[in-house]
Amino acid sequence: MSLLHVHDLYVEYETPAGPARAVNGVSLDLDRGEFLAIVGESGCGKSTLLFAIAQLLSYPARMTGGVVQFDGLDLTALKPEELRRHRWRDVSVVMQSAMNALNPTLSIGAQLADVCRAHTEWDDRQIADRSAEVLSMVSIDPAHLKSYPFQLSGGMRQRAMIAMALLLEPKLVIMDEPTSALDVVAQRSLMRQIHALRERLGFSVLFVTHDMSVVSHFSDRLAVMYAGEVVELGSTRAVFDDPQHPYSVGLMDAFPSLLGDLKPLTGIPGNPPSLVEPPPGCLFAPRCPNATDACRTTRPELLSDDSRSVRCHLVHPLEVP
Ligand SMILES: Nc1ncnc2c1ncn2[C@@H]1O[C@H](COP(=O)(O)OP(=O)(O)OP(=O)(O)O)[C@@H](O)[C@H]1O
Ligand SMILES: [Mg+2]
Repeated sequence: MSLLHVHDLYVEYETPAGPARAVNGVSLDLDRGEFLAIVGESGCGKSTLLFAIAQLLSYPARMTGGVVQFDGLDLTALKPEELRRHRWRDVSVVMQSAMNALNPTLSIGAQLADVCRAHTEWDDRQIADRSAEVLSMVSIDPAHLKSYPFQLSGGMRQRAMIAMALLLEPKLVIMDEPTSALDVVAQRSLMRQIHALRERLGFSVLFVTHDMSVVSHFSDRLAVMYAGEVVELGSTRAVFDDPQHPYSVGLMDAFPSLLGDLKPLTGIPGNPPSLVEPPPGCLFAPRCPNATDACRTTRPELLSDDSRSVRCHLVHPLEVP
């Protein structure tokens, strides 16, 4: 059984123009100890998907369908206080705005202690020891347990959030661009630390990033999202070496060196579709260089071949009756 099982998940934002479907039938599984990266251009629903998985959506977002199972437990059926019991202890979340997620009125040590007291029977000594340990893990001097968030740099605040996420050794760590406030050297070093900790502690990681070099170095599997859908999912190596969805092909072409920044998606001109009034067929068809009539009229399903899943009529032609 996978640690995380997401099936046919839908999330809508209520907007003046009508519901905007930001997550559109997403299914994915994450094994124990596995690192799954999610990529896709801005606005394709990555953060919304992570919020939905962590059951952290709030108005105007609403989950309108689907299954989220963690370790066999249906998270969508849990009451808020039951969810709180699992948060930090079993599943922890480092969100895109993590830099600002710390409480400005409490020291870092007090915030780590609060999480420990809510979930463990540890005494003050044990809490202090563990708090110092997790700060060291992310290369922050434990002297900063006494510091307040405003006394730390943006990168240190982000690392403090990651320390908090690892505090109780959860089974799943969900991270949304956790290294975005760091310079390239600090990013690399933090990713290496996360990687080493994962080897040692065996937790699973669900990771959103725009940095394809992070993806290629650290993720086992890769999900490519477009307009709220997963369009391709497979082992990172296979998707890099042989992307099959036309959008993944364009995305890979945008990273010629792996080390450079994202170039404009020259291979795929145009913009993502409206999430309020999406086109009838494949959501990528209006931008796809190879779209056929079937692509413009019939929504493709995410179909698997060996261990690769692709949502594209060109890869998995429609069966003509
Ligand atoms: N509060 C909101 N109300 C209406 N629509 C929203 C709201 N928040 C997000 N959306 C829409 O939902 C879609 C998905 O947004 P989301 O933040 O999940 O994308 P993302 O892939 O995380 O983007 P980024 O890479 O920029 O972080 C976007 O098209 C966005 O416009
Ligand atoms: Mg986001």
